[in-house]
Amino acid sequence: MKIISHKKKLKKFILGERNLGFVPTMGAIHKGHLSLIKKSIAQCNKTIVSIFVNKPQFNRINDYKKYPRVLKKDISLLKKIGVHYLFLPSHNQIYPDGINKRIKVHPFSKKLCGKYRPHHFESVVDVVDRFIKLIHPKKIYFGEKDMQQLKIVEDFIKKNHSYVKVVACKTIREKNGIALSSRNFLLSFDERMIASKIYKILRMRKNNLIKKSIYITDIKKKIFTLGVNKIDYIEILDINKLIKPYKNKVIYKVFIAYFLGSTRLIDNI
Ligand code: PAF
Repeated sequence: MKIISHKKKLKKFILGERNLGFVPTMGAIHKGHLSLIKKSIAQCNKTIVSIFVNKPQFNRINDYKKYPRVLKKDISLLKKIGVHYLFLPSHNQIYPDGINKRIKVHPFSKKLCGKYRPHHFESVVDVVDRFIKLIHPKKIYFGEKDMQQLKIVEDFIKKNHSYVKVVACKTIREKNGIALSSRNFLLSFDERMIASKIYKILRMRKNNLIKKSIYITDIKKKIFTLGVNKIDYIEILDINKLIKPYKNKVIYKVFIAYFLGSTRLIDNI
């Protein structure tokens, strides 16, 4: 695996690649990332992974500072699985002239997490746009765990980089139901137990929530009794009607964002 931290070197290495799969990450690689990477390795000639903790997309500086960074472990996992290139740029490499304040993203970016994390999705799209312009991948891989991010980025890529195919990958869960996420590294044992209970509550009550035989307020009350200090939202949405073109098939998901201590977790079930 070639490890590259400079844009010029990156261009030199990947210049001739015609069928490159790209998996952008912020590191703290887990089985969720590995499933995206495996798919890319199966579908593309070569696979490039980036690890870049994208400061502009964090709304709270503490969240950025405490984001898990375990580079040595990440490198060994990526080598083992057969990644061809690892791109590890610095902030200045990616933002030589600062962030793009004019980036246009779909208005769905103002809903769900967007209500609580202003400009978060603009910053995610900005960095993905920069990576695509550097890497020119044929396919780019995102997890359905971050469904809102997936839909917004997909919409942007269709409109601005139509030669890149967005590949959506299923959420990978632990046996206890918790969706894999780098932020799980920050959870205590007890917090993991709570996250698992929340998953089970939402899964069991999903159909009743859709039928409105129970209400979101009741579920919120139940979740608060488990020791959650803040729930940003619980909403039920049809994922095929989030961003046009809509699909006829109705697929409802329960979207949630909540805090365990100072760690913010999201899921869609
Ligand atoms: O999902 C993530 O890890 C990040 O939002 C991404 C897509 C790597 C952009 O920084």
